[in-house]
Amino acid sequence: MLEKLELHRRDFDSRIGNVTTPDQLKQLRTDFLGKKGCVSLALKELREFSPGEKRALGKHINDLKEHIELLIQEKSAVVQESSDRAAGSDAFDLSLPGRREMDGHLHPITQVMEELIAIFVGLGFSVEEGPEIESDYYNFEALNIPKDHPARDMQDTFYVEDEVVLRTHTSPVQIRVMEKRKPPLRFIAPGRVYRCDSDVSHTPQFHQVEGLMVDRSVSFGHLKGIMDIFLHQVFGKQTALRFRPSFFPFTCPSAEVDIQCVICLGKGCRVCKQTGWVEILGAGMVDPAVFGFVGYDPEEWTGLAFGLGIERIAMLKYGINDIRLFFENDLRFLRQF
Ligand code: DAH
Repeated sequence: MLEKLELHRRDFDSRIGNVTTPDQLKQLRTDFLGKKGCVSLALKELREFSPGEKRALGKHINDLKEHIELLIQEKSAVVQESSDRAAGSDAFDLSLPGRREMDGHLHPITQVMEELIAIFVGLGFSVEEGPEIESDYYNFEALNIPKDHPARDMQDTFYVEDEVVLRTHTSPVQIRVMEKRKPPLRFIAPGRVYRCDSDVSHTPQFHQVEGLMVDRSVSFGHLKGIMDIFLHQVFGKQTALRFRPSFFPFTCPSAEVDIQCVICLGKGCRVCKQTGWVEILGAGMVDPAVFGFVGYDPEEWTGLAFGLGIERIAMLKYGINDIRLFFENDLRFLRQF
């Protein structure tokens, strides 16, 4: 056995001297270390020896194996380099600039969402979450949206079951948080919402940020102040805003807030439909009926609420005219942010 091993070693040493290509090296490895290679065969033959002999011979076989592995490894680097060189001058052109790894970055909607969250956190708001699959009660009923309200229309709402919907807005988080906690409270609730709608300004899934502040003597003045600071931080100090009376079942009084069109700066264009203003969010003072659903005393507490669409803000901020671009994941679009 020992002689055989010695022969293998000499055979290997002479053959590796002649190896010049990766293929030859591969063949050599198979012949010696492969399943049917001579090292494996020698290990199998060990079975016929006594335990004492086995131990001694086993060590020799292992030595041989390590010797072979080491030389193959060394040779491999040499052979690879010369084969690259032989492949021609264009295999390695050291004068070429390096190829950069492409780094990813956050999606523009996520970027805008994080920007909005940071502004409200700076104003002392905490951040809350609620489920996207929501009950009829939280999405509508407790927000004072009665059964026959058009917002419940099958055309707009994705129904999962009879009393279960994909939330159509982030407002249900208002109810969930008020049920859990006692006032005063001040939070925002960012998240995904769903409506059965699809065109240049609507996608079936989009994002909103809800805001709620409840305390003693919270007033419409606070709402105006907060909207002022918030919209000026997003769109710049020079951007004018206005409050228009509106209606939402869960606020009274309700308002829609417009900003001066950021595309035409108020002169009138296609985006603002020649009015010079674009609607940016809904807001109002919490309707006492909503406090009734969560057991807050409307004589003691008042609240302000607002809700805005993140895609809408992102579109105005970046001058994007088709909301669907955000969800097509075309890298030529996404790379620009
Ligand atoms: N939930 C409303 C919507 O999706 C937006 C909204 C309006 C939220 C007024 C509010 C609010 O909190 O006070 O259209």
